[in-house]
Amino acid sequence: MAKKISDSINRVDGSDKISGRAKYISDVYFKNQYYARTLRSEIAKGRILSIDFPEIPENYFVIDKDDIPGLNQMRTVISDNPIFADNEVNYIGQPILLVVGPDREIIAEIIDQIEVTYQKEKPILTLEEAEQKASLFSDFDYSKGDVENAFNNASQIITDQYETGFQEHIYIEPQGITAVHRDNKMFVFGSMQCPFYIQGALEDVLCWPEDRLRVIHTTTGGAFGGKEEFPSMIACQAAVAALKTGHPVKIIYDRDEDIIASTKRHPSLVKYKAALDKNNKVSALEINVKFNAGAYSGISPVVLERGIFSAANVYNFPNVKVNGKNYQTNSVPCGAFRGFGAPQTIFSMEMFMHNLARKLGQDPLKFKKKHLIKRGDTTSTGGTMHGQVKMPEIIEKITKMSNYEEKFNNLSENRGIGISLFIHGCGFTGDGENNIKGKITLEKKGEQAIVKVSSTDMGQGAETSLRKIVSYTLEIPMEKVIYKKVDTGKVPDSGPTVASRTVMIVGGLLRSAALEMKEKWKQKQSMEISKIYAHPDYLKWDNDTYQGDAYPIYSFGANVVEVEVDPITLELDIQNLYAVYDVGTVIDEKGLRGQMEGGIVQGLGWATTEVMETNQGQLMQSSMTDYKIPTIKDVPEIECDFVTNPYEFGPFGAKCAGELPFNGPAPALAAAVSHALSVPIKKIPLRPENLLKEIKNEN
Ligand code: MOS
Repeated sequence: MAKKISDSINRVDGSDKISGRAKYISDVYFKNQYYARTLRSEIAKGRILSIDFPEIPENYFVIDKDDIPGLNQMRTVISDNPIFADNEVNYIGQPILLVVGPDREIIAEIIDQIEVTYQKEKPILTLEEAEQKASLFSDFDYSKGDVENAFNNASQIITDQYETGFQEHIYIEPQGITAVHRDNKMFVFGSMQCPFYIQGALEDVLCWPEDRLRVIHTTTGGAFGGKEEFPSMIACQAAVAALKTGHPVKIIYDRDEDIIASTKRHPSLVKYKAALDKNNKVSALEINVKFNAGAYSGISPVVLERGIFSAANVYNFPNVKVNGKNYQTNSVPCGAFRGFGAPQTIFSMEMFMHNLARKLGQDPLKFKKKHLIKRGDTTSTGGTMHGQVKMPEIIEKITKMSNYEEKFNNLSENRGIGISLFIHGCGFTGDGENNIKGKITLEKKGEQAIVKVSSTDMGQGAETSLRKIVSYTLEIPMEKVIYKKVDTGKVPDSGPTVASRTVMIVGGLLRSAALEMKEKWKQKQSMEISKIYAHPDYLKWDNDTYQGDAYPIYSFGANVVEVEVDPITLELDIQNLYAVYDVGTVIDEKGLRGQMEGGIVQGLGWATTEVMETNQGQLMQSSMTDYKIPTIKDVPEIECDFVTNPYEFGPFGAKCAGELPFNGPAPALAAAVSHALSVPIKKIPLRPENLLKEIKNEN
């Protein structure tokens, strides 16, 4: 019976042959399926005094906290987010209960008639307010060198600060999960990045052992981090409902519900205090990073860690002191989003360097080049920059490609050109990969090689890249490399599909398994080889002090943006974007170019039209009418190139790529706008009204 369920998905999925008709979870029909809709908190903070229900018709059910057999919490880094509100609510949109039944319209009618009486409490609405009230989730520190001494000997001390806003993922396919209780097991199907995260979350909530839980990935239409931890929440809700009703329970969000309920990118405030030496080089830097984490901590500590470990970006400052704080506010919880905290600190650092150069009367690019980190240098966390840093080559390539120098010095009024340099740490931070111990299995079956991993394809091309690595290594055609459906009952846990780790870590394991398999390929009809990841020996990390190699290796990039600013309306016309990346070795160039262009457009959206704000805890942009992602008309001409810089422990030398392109566009565009208007830029999104303020300040 169990086998039949996943087989039916396999067939409708079309994964064994290319049909162009992949089925998403919303398209998959489960016999006797019920639907569920969520009743959500209408207030930002308070207690639930009572809930009045209309008469619930036959075959309809209300599912809430009292139906949870195990723990009412979603397992993640900090498991503080309840599956259903337990008397108190902490943000508008927080799930209180589900109404479940066969007809979606009747469910909606029931939801409309449910009355919740609250006792309101005073919410914390903004990052500033949370800061004043010390409403804190996490507080992390690390340092390098002797900051105090450098400040005592400074020829000048500069302070500055930068802000970024919320961002919503807007994956093409909204969140969707179906839970099926059958044969004393719980099967969960859906749109997701991390099936084993969901399995873990179900263990806590159902209080069932792993062998009664099967999580099966269905075709996923984009994720960008938004399906890293969030699907665990709806999977647990659907599973509890399936248990109580005895029917498969399907939760499919429409776009508006998805925007209201799902996690967001953390808004940030980054403050700098810099000491300059007599040559106007930065001799010491204090960086204070503040993130608005929303109502629950969840995965935010790890987002903050990546944020602070990336805070020095591509630079080597001899003395650095970094503090990072996650604040609790009564707004929608923030979580994973492409770049995972790094885009915020890298935008801020790039603009800090740009504005500091302007202030000192220096060329921003020349000023940045004086501070670049090199191979063998000590990183801000006291580790070693192990890999070759090809930033000079990247800069040379991109400045030629864009004719940067010439344009920087000669552009007409209202036109500007800006450059950003950026880094991205590959894989999990610190000893994360050693703790996860990702495992892969490669199987030979006749002339076929079967890849068994938990890496999910969400449109980024994981399947193609991983199959390509195996196909090239075994020297067999791609068609002979079969990607096993990601199903926790059938594949080993090779770790979550996050942190730009898939090609480098999982692909690296597949490459070594394939090399071993190749030697015996002719002798054996069938065999199975498994590999478990361990970091190269030379890497050191102390997670208590944040000292050592924050990442095994880094990828790098540079962007140049050309913009024209309308002198009356201050609207931006982004004309050209140039990009050069070092991702080690390119595995699948077509797919990678897609990733880079997608990351660029998403980064430009974050920097421009993607305004998301709260008013009294309510999201002001809760539909795609108000929350505007770039359209095809907003996309500039993109020219993209790569430099090769193989990493010894990556498959064919590959490093990380998926998140990297997001780090560059915002600071390059902001630098271009700063150049066009001759004002400093300290905040994104770049709204005309904010630009007007900067112009007024400057004059
Ligand atoms: Mo990601 S933002 O590491 O899912």
